[in-house]
Amino acid sequence: MKRDLLGIRDLTTEEIVHLISRSNHYISLLDSEDPFPAVSVLAGRTVANLFFENSTRTRSSFELAERRLGASVLSLSMQTSSLTKGETLLDTVKVITAMRIDAIVVRHQSAGVPQLLRKHLPESIRIINAGDGAGEHPTQALLDAATLIEILGDLKGKHIVISGDISHSRVARSNMMTLTKLGATVTAVGPLTLLPKSIATVFGVRTATSLDEVLPNTDALISLRIQRERQDKAYFPNDQEFRSLYGMTAQRRARFPQLPILHPGPVNRGVELDDESMDSSSSMIFRQVRRGVAVRLAVLEWIFSKN
Ligand code: CP
Repeated sequence: MKRDLLGIRDLTTEEIVHLISRSNHYISLLDSEDPFPAVSVLAGRTVANLFFENSTRTRSSFELAERRLGASVLSLSMQTSSLTKGETLLDTVKVITAMRIDAIVVRHQSAGVPQLLRKHLPESIRIINAGDGAGEHPTQALLDAATLIEILGDLKGKHIVISGDISHSRVARSNMMTLTKLGATVTAVGPLTLLPKSIATVFGVRTATSLDEVLPNTDALISLRIQRERQDKAYFPNDQEFRSLYGMTAQRRARFPQLPILHPGPVNRGVELDDESMDSSSSMIFRQVRRGVAVRLAVLEWIFSKN
């Protein structure tokens, strides 16, 4: 069985539950004071991390997970690759795969690149999407769901609010698919300019423009970064207005001190989250980061498993 992880769209609920369950196994190893045991499920495999767009969390956690599973790891920095001399994306990737690579972890600023590579590369090479433009970020959604289950238990009937720049967010797309498949009720909240009309029907979620109206009935909040690199015009008057309407300000948090706050990072401090919210005991941000390693261990194990 040869598997890829191109998007949550392709996963069944059973596969999502399996990956989260395996991440529970790996989180217990990561949380243990004992050294991480020698695991060799990727021994003899070579994984190439091709990040055409910057990353701290995803790239580092994939590299750590690959090494912990015994793989050989090639991480190519695209800023210093021959792409800068005019080589095409496909030619660059084909050069790397000619070196006998078993899997590619790819991040790219354009949506659809993992699917494009799938079309052009041999089937034997597994592909994992580490974030494609405003398309999907499947491992982020899996780690967010696993973190929410750790805090809230079964997500069936739970109300999760995703707030901020919904339009440009691959995290929002993957999260809406994952959380609804797991039985949660999801509300996407943001200014109308960043809240596509179609999402309610496409993703089966609710939409709202007022964070204050939805927060009293919310089990957890996923705050999203303003994706400035994908915005081609001003979608709201200024950061202060965005913060006052959609940010988890200190005043807003004081009204809901127990509400778990998640954010995929990186955070624009003082815009999506005030310092007080980001550094509070309600902030799950570092739990998410730790879970990111566990989820990537589970995903790598899964794409190479034989059943
Ligand atoms: N959440 C996330 O994808 O972060 P990075 O861009 O740092 O990988």
